[in-house]
Amino acid sequence: MKQIQHNRRTVMRTVAGLAMSALIPLGVAQAADPIKVGMMLPATGTYAKLGSAIDNAFKLYVEEQGGTLAGRSIEYHAVDDESDPAKATENANRLVVRDGVDVLVGTVHSGVALAMARVAKQRDTLFLVPNAGADDLTRAQCSPNLFRTSFTNWQPAYAMGKAATGMGHKTAVTLTWKYAAGLEAVNGFKQAFEEGGGKVVKELTTPFPGVEFQSFLTEIAALKPDAVYVFFAGGGAAKFAKDYAAAGLKDSVPLYSSGFLTDGTLGAMGGAGEGLITALHYADGLDNAKDKAFRAAYQAKYGMPPDVYAVQGYDAAQLLHAGLKAVGGDMSKKAEMRAAMRSATIESPRGNFTLSSSHNPVQDIYLRKASGEENPSTGIAAKALADPGTGCKM
Ligand code: PHB
Repeated sequence: MKQIQHNRRTVMRTVAGLAMSALIPLGVAQAADPIKVGMMLPATGTYAKLGSAIDNAFKLYVEEQGGTLAGRSIEYHAVDDESDPAKATENANRLVVRDGVDVLVGTVHSGVALAMARVAKQRDTLFLVPNAGADDLTRAQCSPNLFRTSFTNWQPAYAMGKAATGMGHKTAVTLTWKYAAGLEAVNGFKQAFEEGGGKVVKELTTPFPGVEFQSFLTEIAALKPDAVYVFFAGGGAAKFAKDYAAAGLKDSVPLYSSGFLTDGTLGAMGGAGEGLITALHYADGLDNAKDKAFRAAYQAKYGMPPDVYAVQGYDAAQLLHAGLKAVGGDMSKKAEMRAAMRSATIESPRGNFTLSSSHNPVQDIYLRKASGEENPSTGIAAKALADPGTGCKM
């Protein structure tokens, strides 16, 4: 593959030379070099599996297009961000400055993504966010060059809060890792839960990515709320669900969450996730042709079913393609490319979505109930839910 890319580049340089001598506009020749895509994702730590699902599905989409988008081959540059905000600026600069990528793609962790956004803004580099839900990315820190194909932390959490009051719960305790994603998810849940007449009686937090839950479970047992809402994902989510069941709480205090708790983690929970109710913009077994084709292709290539992270990675590649098609692969036409991305309808495995004016998906949030290793939908918790985008000035 690398060899092919290099050969192609040599050929293109020759073409560029000929083009100049024949006075063909340079843009045409330039458009034939590969597009450099910087993948900044976690390859280690509690979110490693999430990063790999995003990477897999982004590449699957590009391969389905024959390895080119709008006539341009794709050259990947990768950095393991370790879900470490302290290393995020340096890691993003490696891709943007050292490697000179045309587009930055990442990441899972909200704190890391907020630092990436600052680098992308400084350099005016196109930035696609295939997971991190940090509300501010499409609120106060929104930007013409930043597009998200995932969610805000607020979105599934708000929908979950609405559903929990709908189920008649009056009191809730929340527990999360103490960083942007969890804190914002708790805010979203609390807003809807209290709008619906409920009361969050205690907000518990533990440092990311800690998995020592025992003292919190003891406290929850003593508080006896009607419900518990948590934000955990990846490896830590599996540990939490197992501990919750082992503490005997699963049958006495219903546990709710944004669907990250149970997406891609039910196998590792070994039965402790059975029946858990969550809210998310994806579910297993959706009745749409795009999802069926995507799931079959992902399973065939990677030998496992896709999850929400894979969907978001696939859609990041689809959104990039929508922009590139509009400019015939010429990324120097920034304004036209971004305009096309802003107005795109993405035919996603989750169902079609468009972007809000702050570049975040307007999407249905499904209510799901875990069964075996899947999260089938039991209905829609919030239809075409748009993040409020508060404070976004483009
Ligand atoms: C985040 O940090 O924004 C985040 C991480 C993992 C998830 C969801 C959100 O599953």
